Amino acid sequence: MNPIRSVRPVLLPGPRCLLREWADSDAEPLHALTNQPQVVDRMLDEQPPSLDEVHAVLPAWREAAGAEPRLAYHLAAAEDGLVGLGTLTVTSPAHRRGEIGYVVHPDHWGKGLGTALADLLLRLAFEQVGLHRVEATTRPDHAASWRVLEKVGMRREGLSRDHLFVRGGWWDSVRYAVLATDR
Ligand SMILES: CC(C)(COP(=O)(O)OP(=O)(O)OC[C@H]1O[C@@H](n2cnc3c(N)ncnc32)[C@H](O)[C@@H]1OP(=O)(O)O)[C@@H](O)C(=O)NCCC(=O)NCCS
Repeated sequence: MNPIRSVRPVLLPGPRCLLREWADSDAEPLHALTNQPQVVDRMLDEQPPSLDEVHAVLPAWREAAGAEPRLAYHLAAAEDGLVGLGTLTVTSPAHRRGEIGYVVHPDHWGKGLGTALADLLLRLAFEQVGLHRVEATTRPDHAASWRVLEKVGMRREGLSRDHLFVRGGWWDSVRYAVLATDR
């Protein structure tokens, strides 16, 4: 038996936003979000996705959501419309370990949404999927992101030098984690 649960569909309401699965009608807002220059700067991709690539990725995410066990949670964060996205990746089912990532549309920065979104991802990870340890990575200069992680109870565990090779240069990463028993 698998030590983790496959949650689908995800529909997780929170005080600031709702975490849900993607719909085809999200393609244009998702394209707009992932092409914001302040977001592009923080992403690992060589270049931001085209609208065609966004249309192609939504069915791929749906297919990944059907895997058993489900290891990839690509989720939309919605208020009235799309305000961000969140990911939970189960990196090791056997060790009940996963990793989170999040993006908030720059129009909504500084209003607590990033913190609310990360908190929902941790609720999904611990209360629904049944993970024991959740990790996150951010850049040492990215105060908004490491503040989000600290506000949801994640602890800084160290610095990984030259951890990622992004657009022709090496990026250091600060590594955060939280355990189910910490919460
Ligand atoms: C990181 C990100 C999600 C933060 O979202 P947000 O909705 O602005 O976050 P919050 O409003 O919950 O703010 C969280 C904390 O960060 C602080 N903060 C926000 N912007 C900041 C900035 N530019 N510099 C320093 N601190 C900042 C806030 O003041 C708050 O801390 P406080 O409560 O102690 O004051 C958002 O900036 C983002 O989506 N960036 C692009 C994508 C990205 O970088 N994702 C993470 C990759 S590791």
